[in-house]
Amino acid sequence: MANVKKSITELVGKTPLLELVNYEKKHNLEAKVLVKLEYFNPNQSVKDRIALAMIEDAEKKGLLKPGYTVVETTSGNTGIGLAAIAATKGYKFRVYVQDNVSQERFQVIQAFGGETIKLSEEPVIGRVLEETNGDFVAAIDVLRREVLAKEENIYFVDQTANPANPAIHESTTGPEIWEDTDGEVDILVANVGTGGTVSGTGKFLKSKKPELQVVAIQPGENSLPSDTNPEPEEITGVHPFEGVPAERVPSTMDLNIYDKKVEVETIEAYHAAREVAKTDGILIGTSSGAAIHAATELAKLPENKGKTIVAILPDTGLRYLSTNLFREEFQG
Ligand SMILES: Cc1ncc(COP(=O)(O)O)c(C=O)c1O
Repeated sequence: MANVKKSITELVGKTPLLELVNYEKKHNLEAKVLVKLEYFNPNQSVKDRIALAMIEDAEKKGLLKPGYTVVETTSGNTGIGLAAIAATKGYKFRVYVQDNVSQERFQVIQAFGGETIKLSEEPVIGRVLEETNGDFVAAIDVLRREVLAKEENIYFVDQTANPANPAIHESTTGPEIWEDTDGEVDILVANVGTGGTVSGTGKFLKSKKPELQVVAIQPGENSLPSDTNPEPEEITGVHPFEGVPAERVPSTMDLNIYDKKVEVETIEAYHAAREVAKTDGILIGTSSGAAIHAATELAKLPENKGKTIVAILPDTGLRYLSTNLFREEFQG
């Protein structure tokens, strides 16, 4: 039984590339749009890659030992990936999450035996959030210094500062795209949250083909909180990396890796995701819709005629059923 897997850790990565043939035809695109379907990972997101990599890196370095609790703060997918990997490896898992994270993510983490804590519910953090008008970065900093530093037998993963995050994309996501396209990829499109995906994948592909264009997605201005619109519908997991203070950009984001930044609004991401569900039968999340929207804009440019664009789609649409993503009457 050579082909029987013994752990979900063996199911991470090697996700398929799909050409959106019907979508290309509908839009008369003269460039190829290939999408890397990260929902084929065992827990349906790109974050399974970094969850496994960060845990095994900590084990190797002796930072994570039997009986320890793995701790993380995330918008969700990393939490879900870590919860599953921690479960199969026998670690306890605890996650601190922002209050606006969708309900199904809490339920999934709990199903894996993980503990979920809303950031605002940790008294010290609740105070910081109030004082800083909801500054997540400041809250995490206080969590690390005033709460986690006092605890023993825990490993704080911190995907926003963990070098194993971009490194796993450099050693797996990039090579997979290179091999599956026989090196015939011209443009890479990726979202930026921690920046791990774009930085690691971009680094590998550029090492193979220096002229390859790396395009990074930033949320449009109507999709970010502002004085006039304090609670916009956001693209989950995607954060600005330009026009924000340097200390707000995670160290896992290599600001020298991208050639172009494309801004996408949440409603544009919703439209693209709704459309490819109908044209090509893939059910994807909001940031995946953003990647397809950006890839489409690029495919329409005359200079990109005949080129191959690869867009990385981070997760499944099933994780967004309680949001407005697939409520077609919702038009922002
Ligand atoms: C749904 C979703 N899309 C995109 C991203 C961005 O990926 P990365 O953190 O590798 O930049 C994330 C990250 O949290 C995410 O959860």
